[in-house]
Amino acid sequence: MRSARFWETASIPELYEWFAGEAEASSPGWARVSRQVAATPAIAALLDELPPAARQPNLFLASVKRLHGPLDADPSLEDWVQRHWAAIEHLVTTRFTQTNEVGRCAVLAPVLASLPQPIALVEVGMSAGLGLFPDLYHYRWLLDDGTVVSAGSPGEVSIECQVSGESLPLAVPQVAWRAGIDRNPLDPSDPEDSAWLRALVWPGETAREERLAAALRAVADRDVLRVAGDITDALPAVLAAAPRGATVVVVHSATLAYLPREQRQRHLDLLGRLGVHWVSNEGVKVVPVVRDALPPGFTDDPRPCFVLALDGRPLARVGSHGQWLEWL
Ligand SMILES: C[S@@+](CC[C@H](N)C(=O)[O-])C[C@H]1O[C@@H](n2cnc3c(N)ncnc32)[C@H](O)[C@@H]1O
Repeated sequence: MRSARFWETASIPELYEWFAGEAEASSPGWARVSRQVAATPAIAALLDELPPAARQPNLFLASVKRLHGPLDADPSLEDWVQRHWAAIEHLVTTRFTQTNEVGRCAVLAPVLASLPQPIALVEVGMSAGLGLFPDLYHYRWLLDDGTVVSAGSPGEVSIECQVSGESLPLAVPQVAWRAGIDRNPLDPSDPEDSAWLRALVWPGETAREERLAAALRAVADRDVLRVAGDITDALPAVLAAAPRGATVVVVHSATLAYLPREQRQRHLDLLGRLGVHWVSNEGVKVVPVVRDALPPGFTDDPRPCFVLALDGRPLARVGSHGQWLEWL
């Protein structure tokens, strides 16, 4: 993932050419739309007028999907964008990239279950809070030898994950209490919030979008402390509310990359001072202490991935949506 500085300073054609490369494998439609945007000066000129934070291609493309625009390259795209520009501008300046991926629970659950149970679970960067309910979903962990480990609650949300190697038991944690912090917590029972989260899923990833919709229904109206605020500033007060007798654990997943570098370090220092367990599920270079502890040769593998870590110790290479897990 690129930094906020790249989104703010690169030219629109440069940004959309980069994004096309990112989307190519899982969403060829978005890759073609991105190339069309890069090659259409009239659309690029509109996008160039946006405030820096609204220039992320993901925000524009999610707005196109939310407003039922073309999901593939199309001769009508320029005209469509011009006719819908007011609505697009409203979405990209009031909404954020808050992709909430329930599949990540398949890689987080075994780490959370390895701590003394029950746990008091805090997710910083919760989005709609799907990651706060690892005990609510059904899992199918598919092992290399063809064995399937099934666990969790049978229900609408079933998550599959390909697992290589051996380390922690594949198990589901007991969650006694849950709290989430986000600068803009989304409400899974709110139709507009749900529609935006669905729009953030790239076209072509239909099964992922259906699972997201099922997860939003499953967690709607469940008891969880939702705190609107900055993850670093709000964390101490949230932890003070955790019940005694449960192991307190803070999770951050696909979130620290959105923090400016100096705040990232401040946040990690705070976690160290608070003396709680912390589970990190972030890009390879995002958390310095985790990056520095990776085994030699880790970065030779060119596949895009996240690193799953407990208390700063890397445990596994994982798919960025939790679709696979390779224990280190
Ligand atoms: C890409 S989403 C990831 C959501 C969830 N953790 C997951 O793995 O599905 C990142 C979330 O972090 C939140 N976020 C980013 N920086 C933040 C900050 N400084 N304070 C509070 N929330 C923040 C965003 O609003 C967004 O909801």
